Amino acid sequence: KTTESSIDHFEEEELLQSLPKEKGWVSQYMYLYQQFWCPSPLIQPTITFQKYFQAKHNDIVIASLPKAGTTWLKALAFAVVKRSHSIPTSQNDPHPLLNSNPHTLVPFFELDIYANKTNNVIPNYLSTLPEPRMFGTHIPFPSLSHSIHNSDCKIIYICRNPLDTFISHWHFSNNILSSQSLPTLTLEEAFEGYCEGMHPFGPFWSHILSYWNASRDKPSKVLFLKYEEVKANTNSELKRMAQFLDYPFTPEEESGGVIDTIIELCSFKKMKELEINKSGKFANKIENKHFFRKGENGDWVNYFSPSMIEKLSKVIEEKLDMESIFL
Ligand code: A3P
Repeated sequence: KTTESSIDHFEEEELLQSLPKEKGWVSQYMYLYQQFWCPSPLIQPTITFQKYFQAKHNDIVIASLPKAGTTWLKALAFAVVKRSHSIPTSQNDPHPLLNSNPHTLVPFFELDIYANKTNNVIPNYLSTLPEPRMFGTHIPFPSLSHSIHNSDCKIIYICRNPLDTFISHWHFSNNILSSQSLPTLTLEEAFEGYCEGMHPFGPFWSHILSYWNASRDKPSKVLFLKYEEVKANTNSELKRMAQFLDYPFTPEEESGGVIDTIIELCSFKKMKELEINKSGKFANKIENKHFFRKGENGDWVNYFSPSMIEKLSKVIEEKLDMESIFL
């Protein structure tokens, strides 16, 4: 008997045979699927998500390249949207962010929901999530499900200086590899791949540009944030985010310190020290502590040689319009 999942599996086998393939960073391989490098274990979940996910008009999607500040943005957006029933953070009624990692509260489509749940339970799971539903993804804008493109749901994208994103990703990958007693990636091999655009969900330039252009075309649908700006002006960026999501802060909330409470709750220092983020695991696999390393701008200076700076700066200059995006 041919079931739907066996058709999917057969189609996947055929598809994989036809796609360009490279060594992955953490996974064994990455495939060039719809013009982005998709880690092999995420191909099937991505296809299932694309085929079946039905967006609701009030869904919220947090999108990013890995290591661009996803965890922080998920925490901030969750705290903003769910604040009516989760602020203040009293001892009897602790805020969900004190007991759960942001990736549990705002699950990824391809890394969590469609990867870890069986297809027959997903529709029910999705339909029972409290609204507004909040999701995360590393999939580039053009490859999101049609229903996300066609509904009124909103997307917030966070972009980070590619040099810092690279160093953060290299550390993260090596932490995961080490925890599985697998050989780690040298800085040089990861760097060569990165400059060619061959890294998970890369090329980074087309990923960033896909959301940047979408935010220019549809400013009410896609908000483009920068990690460095959120760090420098957390208060005003948080207000911008709340406004965009149609959850603006009232003057009473502002004067009552709600914004500061959220900023403190989601701060790197606070989150890194929480027991759930020190000892818990995300999707039963990755230790939460790996999502909190330094949380600083400019750590790349401690790793890049002058020739690496020259090479990557050239790639960035050629592929991205730095003036309009980063300045
Ligand atoms: P570093 O490795 O440079 O420290 P992602 O969440 O997309 O996986 O990105 C992880 C990066 O964001 C890591 O960067 C991590 O330390 C940083 N980060 C995590 N939580 C943060 C927070 N609350 N505030 C600022 N940066 C944070």
